[in-house]
Amino acid sequence: MAGALAVSLRTRTHDDLDVLYRISADLDTWEERNSREPSPLTRAKFDARLARADADDSSEKTVAFVIDAGGTAVGSASLSDFDRFAHHAEAGIALLPEARGRGIGTAAIRQLVEFGFVRCNLRRIHLQAIASNVGALRAYEKAGFVVEGRLREHAWVRGVYEDIVLMGILRSEQVATSLPQMPSAAPGQRSRASTEGSR
Ligand SMILES: CC(C)(COP(=O)(O)OP(=O)(O)OC[C@H]1O[C@@H](n2cnc3c(N)ncnc32)[C@H](O)[C@@H]1OP(=O)(O)O)[C@@H](O)C(=O)NCCC(=O)NCCS
Repeated sequence: MAGALAVSLRTRTHDDLDVLYRISADLDTWEERNSREPSPLTRAKFDARLARADADDSSEKTVAFVIDAGGTAVGSASLSDFDRFAHHAEAGIALLPEARGRGIGTAAIRQLVEFGFVRCNLRRIHLQAIASNVGALRAYEKAGFVVEGRLREHAWVRGVYEDIVLMGILRSEQVATSLPQMPSAAPGQRSRASTEGSR
């Protein structure tokens, strides 16, 4: 992949499962992606987790997209922990190693934020990142997130304690994106959102 790529958020299909499993099982970015203790993730466990998530029809359900770049699945982006009273949710994103550093993450986060504010009627979206994850922090900053706090030495990351950076964006702060179209679909349908992935 190189140059300008059409980046979109779309619904997962069966063909995406290998890519999504690769991302979820990647021990190299385990601590960046979640706070659980690192451990090898089997395909069976991954499949079972997906099946449980699919079976959950509660309103608290995670909104999960596949990130598509130029027609290829390269990552996942989600909104979770919805608070329907205070209208906020937490954002998460991860790309395959070969898709990183090409502007795809920034484009996907912008679309996720747009979806959260416009389609899910969120008022605030928040996230957290390990302080050394400079690529993530920069991508979030470019998408309009601001640093709201810091949990000092909160994470154990590959042999050292690291700070966790808390970031958030309010709907009133959202920078207008140049989206030609909004994500058009709820989970279960294909989204048509698309922007260029090059920086
Ligand atoms: C974090 C992630 C989603 C960012 O997406 P990305 O497509 O790699 O980021 P982009 O290419 O859009 O780059 C965004 C900015 O960060 C910078 N950047 C990216 N990777 C960087 C790195 N390793 N070191 C320094 N800067 C980096 C880019 O230069 C760009 O800034 P610029 O436009 O000012 O030059 C992606 O790297 C990823 O999936 N990482 C592994 C999982 C992860 O960490 N998830 C986030 C958990 S909080």
